Amino acid sequence: MRQLKEQGRIRYLGITHYREDAQDTVAQIVRSERVDFVQINYSLAERGAERTLLPLCQSRGVAVLINRPFQDGRMFRAVRDRPLPAWAGEIDCNSWGQLFLKFVVSHPAVTAAIPATSKPKNMADNLGAALGRMPDAGQRERIAALLA
Ligand SMILES: NC(=O)c1ccc[n+]([C@@H]2O[C@H](COP(=O)([O-])OP(=O)(O)OC[C@H]3O[C@@H](n4cnc5c(N)ncnc54)[C@H](OP(=O)(O)O)[C@@H]3O)[C@@H](O)[C@H]2O)c1
Repeated sequence: MRQLKEQGRIRYLGITHYREDAQDTVAQIVRSERVDFVQINYSLAERGAERTLLPLCQSRGVAVLINRPFQDGRMFRAVRDRPLPAWAGEIDCNSWGQLFLKFVVSHPAVTAAIPATSKPKNMADNLGAALGRMPDAGQRERIAALLA
């Protein structure tokens, strides 16, 4: 991979995983190797990356892509019968999906999230999380308390 990068055939080189129990190993690699990005799992329901990996990547200038931002859809089931809180409008969220995604992408270490969907309607909804006001640290904790 390093050779391909030196040859200009790839621009960025990174490592990925999708489970919290692998994040210590991912952190070791970020400390010992030169990587441009990591792709890891992070969501309201799985906040383990906040302890070490996200601050480490931020301090080293390593880009961070987030997989499983909805915990594979499980988070939608947790809020199925609940109305969106009225204050979601303060950060320009019209849906639970946007609230969940803004929590993820507003972490200062996060570069982008890659939510999965099989439905164009949900893709359009998720794109809404790229627009409008983003939560500050206090608003992030308010979102987190919704699933506590
Ligand atoms: N590198 C790695 O090791 C790795 C590992 C795992 C995943 N990934 C990648 O990470 C991405 C995310 O993966 P993920 O599948 O774990 O899941 P996810 O994004 O956490 O959740 C996807 C689920 O959320 C539902 N959903 C999405 N948008 C919605 C919305 N607006 N409203 C209601 N439901 C919504 C989808 O259902 P519908 O289809 O009905 O919308 C689907 O069931 C994927 O691109 C995947 O390829 C990478």
